[in-house]
Amino acid sequence: MTVIRVDLQPKGYDVVVADAGPEAVAPYVKKLFAPGRLVVITDSTVGGLFADRIEQALVAEGFDVATINVTPGERSKSFTTAEMLLERMSEIDLDRKSVVMSLGGGVVGDLAGFVSSIYKRGCPVVHVPTTLLAQVDSAIGGKTGVNLAHVKNQIGTFHQPSLVFAPIRALRTLPRRQLLNGIAEGIKTAVVLDADLVEWLGQTSDPLHWTDSWLVHLVSRCCAAKASVVEKDEKDDGLRMVLNFGHTLGHALEAVADEDELLHGEAVAIGMAAAIGLSRHLGYCRPQTEAAVLHLLGTFGLPTSAKSFVGRPWSQALRKDKKSAGSQITTVLLHEFGHPLLVKQSVDELTRWFKEWMENDG
Ligand SMILES: NC(=O)c1ccc[n+]([C@@H]2O[C@H](COP(=O)([O-])OP(=O)(O)OC[C@H]3O[C@@H](n4cnc5c(N)ncnc54)[C@H](O)[C@@H]3O)[C@@H](O)[C@H]2O)c1
Ligand SMILES: [Zn+2]
Repeated sequence: MTVIRVDLQPKGYDVVVADAGPEAVAPYVKKLFAPGRLVVITDSTVGGLFADRIEQALVAEGFDVATINVTPGERSKSFTTAEMLLERMSEIDLDRKSVVMSLGGGVVGDLAGFVSSIYKRGCPVVHVPTTLLAQVDSAIGGKTGVNLAHVKNQIGTFHQPSLVFAPIRALRTLPRRQLLNGIAEGIKTAVVLDADLVEWLGQTSDPLHWTDSWLVHLVSRCCAAKASVVEKDEKDDGLRMVLNFGHTLGHALEAVADEDELLHGEAVAIGMAAAIGLSRHLGYCRPQTEAAVLHLLGTFGLPTSAKSFVGRPWSQALRKDKKSAGSQITTVLLHEFGHPLLVKQSVDELTRWFKEWMENDG
């Protein structure tokens, strides 16, 4: 077990990475909150796997627990679902001291974070992430959100959790493609913030067969790296942007992909291949660094090519990117592992370069 403190004012919180199942969160919740109402927000897949066990464990600690299921998948990150959750929370008489717990992947975490931030002007939230992506990335940092029509995360708040409990054993039921999805975000964090983690990932002898202890190490290092950035830039005004490495093209591809064609981490893997290519092209990094990133992504079987997206309207999505201001856009590039840089470019120029990369290298 590893405990990482996210040191924020006025109130920091612990991220506990445990070689345990989700029910092991219960004593940690008891330490933080007096027994009272607690609502678990989950999706029906995750709820079917873990809700009974977690409910029993929380009841044993004295909590009065209700569980609400949403439909699995990105479509649940909507105002409609948020409204349904808020209505249910009101029906079960949750008050401002009651605890909201998310149990699931990034979708459930973003949704539960969002509703907890606005219900009665804010109540505490505890995240129990059950996908690797949520454990290495989305559960930490306090960004919440729902989508508006087809624009992702257009509505949201900053609402830091009171506790993040990452139960590594929950990953045993996660489909392989979803695990790789999380590995991609882990590689991203390593590449921009933790050169030692890149080296460790590169030494993984059998990258397609993970052990629980391997996952504990990966999740702990990623959480520590993300925590250090969030502490310095809680509201995403500067430094935190480095976590968007690979996301400029990644988001644009995701926006035009067919349903299930591209998971977020897969899109980010392709985006990282493009971003490291651009870093080398502009002379910021050495060809060896580019080759090492491509090799690492390949070792884990992640995609690094966007040829199938040539001719699709991804450049329109690029223009709508939140990181763009007028005709300029800020992209994250890399000097070397652990040394990212933010570069402002014209959207037209960046689009031209990505197009060429997709047709030739990517
Ligand atoms: N808030 C942030 O900082 C942040 C950062 C990155 C991503 N996100 C958001 O996260 C979301 C993606 O999260 P995700 O990849 O976790 O997707 P997800 O929440 O949709 O989960 C993926 C699938 O895995 C299933 N699942 C979850 N845990 C399982 C388990 N242990 N065993 C079996 N099945 C399981 C879910 O039911 C779902 O079908 C996106 O909406 C993205 O915008 C937010
Ligand atoms: Zn991401």
